[in-house]
Amino acid sequence: GGTRAIATLPGDGIGPEIMDVAVKVLEIVGEAEGVDLRFEEHAIGGDAIDKTGCPLPDETLAACKESDAVLLAAIGGYKWDNLSSKDRPEGGLLQLRAGLDCFANLRPATLEDELLEGSPLKPDIIKGVDIMIVRELVGGIYFGQPRGFMDEEGDRAGYNTMVYKKSEVERIARVAFEIAKQRKGRIVSVDKANVLEVSQLWRQTVADAFEEDGCSSDGLELANMYVDNCAMQLCSNPSQFDVILTGNIFGDILSDQASVITGSLGMLPSASVSSPGKPGIYEPVHGSAPDIAGQDIANPLGMVLSAAMMCRYGLNEPEMADIIEDAVKDVLAKGYRTGDLMGSSPPGAELIQVGCTQMGELLLQSIAE
Ligand code: NAD
Ligand code: IPM
Ligand code: MN
Repeated sequence: GGTRAIATLPGDGIGPEIMDVAVKVLEIVGEAEGVDLRFEEHAIGGDAIDKTGCPLPDETLAACKESDAVLLAAIGGYKWDNLSSKDRPEGGLLQLRAGLDCFANLRPATLEDELLEGSPLKPDIIKGVDIMIVRELVGGIYFGQPRGFMDEEGDRAGYNTMVYKKSEVERIARVAFEIAKQRKGRIVSVDKANVLEVSQLWRQTVADAFEEDGCSSDGLELANMYVDNCAMQLCSNPSQFDVILTGNIFGDILSDQASVITGSLGMLPSASVSSPGKPGIYEPVHGSAPDIAGQDIANPLGMVLSAAMMCRYGLNEPEMADIIEDAVKDVLAKGYRTGDLMGSSPPGAELIQVGCTQMGELLLQSIAE
C-alpha cells in the first residue's frame, strides 16, 4: 500500500506509444493492489531538446531524484543525430543514469515457452534460457576521459578512453554475486583481458572480490570469458549462462544479441539501479525505433516488463510485478503477437497479429479476468 511518485519519461520515437500502454497497465494493477501511484511526466532526449534546448533539463533530473522510481521509454532519432555527444538525446540518458548513480543495469533475457518457436534460433538450443546480464552503467568507455576529436599531423582523429577503477568494478561485481545467490549461482565475467589493461584490472578485481566475500562457500562459481567468444556462445549454447557480469559497452552489445533468443529486442526489460533507497531507472533495452514510430505497431512488452521490474525492485510490490508478468505470459499463450514477433513463426501456428494499443488492451483484459 501507500503512495508512490513515479517520474515518467516517454522520450522519442515509439517511446510515447509504449509508455502509454505501461502507465495504463500500472494504473489498473495499482488500483487492484491498493497502491496509489502518482505519475508525473517529464521531458528527456530529443523531445526535451525541442522544448528546452537541452536533452536533460535540470527540472527533469531534479524531479527524478525526488521520485520513488523513474520509468523511461526510449530516446533518440534521426532529427538529432548530428548534434555533439553531450547535446544529443543519448547524452541526456547518460547524464540521467550518472546523475542518479544508477551503476547497475540488470538486463534479464528469459525465454517464455510461448515464444520458443518465434526465435530465429533453433528451439532445442534456446529452450529454458534464463540469463541475467549485469552491466556496469556509469563508467567505462562511455564516460572515460579524455575524449574528443583532434588533428594530428594533418590527419583527423576521434578518441575515447576505456577506464575502470577498482572500486567501480568491486561494486558491480558484488551486485552480480548477490543476484547469483538468488539464481543458479554461476557467474561468467566477460572482458577482453587478452588485449586490454582495463580488462586485466577488471578480471583481477572480480576474482579478488569473489575470494574476499567467500563466494565459493556460498556455492557460487566464477568463470571468465572473452567478449568475442561470449558473443558466439550466446548463439551456439546460451543455456550455459546464468549471470553474465560485464562492463558498459560489452553489456550494451551482448544484451541486444541476447534478445534474439527471446524472439525480439522489443521483449527485453531492464532495471538500472543505484544504492538502496535511491530511485532506479526502469527502461526497456531497445531504443526509440524511429523506423516504426507513429504506426502503432511497436511491441510494448519490453516496456511493460520494465514496469514490472519497477514494481519488484523499485517499489517493493512483488505482487504487482507478478500480476503484470502473468498478463504478458497470458496474452502470448493466447497467440497475440506484435509484428516483430511474427517473422519466424512456424507455418500453421495460430498467431494473431496486433498493434501496440491493442496489445495494451489485451493486457488490461487479461488482468481484469
Ligand atoms: P532500436 O532499438 O531503436 O531499433 C533496432 C531495431 O529493432 C529496429 O528495426 C526497430 O524497429 C526494432 N525495435 C526496437 N524496439 C522495438 C519494439 N519495441 N517493437 C518492435 N520493434 C522494435 O535501435 P537503433 O535503430 O539502433 O536506434 C534508434 C535510436 O534509438 C537511436 O537514436 C539510438 O541512439 C536510440 N537508442 C535509445 C535507447 C534508449 O533509449 N535506451 C536504446 C538504444 C538505442
Ligand atoms: C541502451 C542504449 C544506450 C546505451 C544509448 C542510447 C546511450 O543503447 O540503453 O542500451 O548505449 O547504453
Ligand atoms: Mn543498447
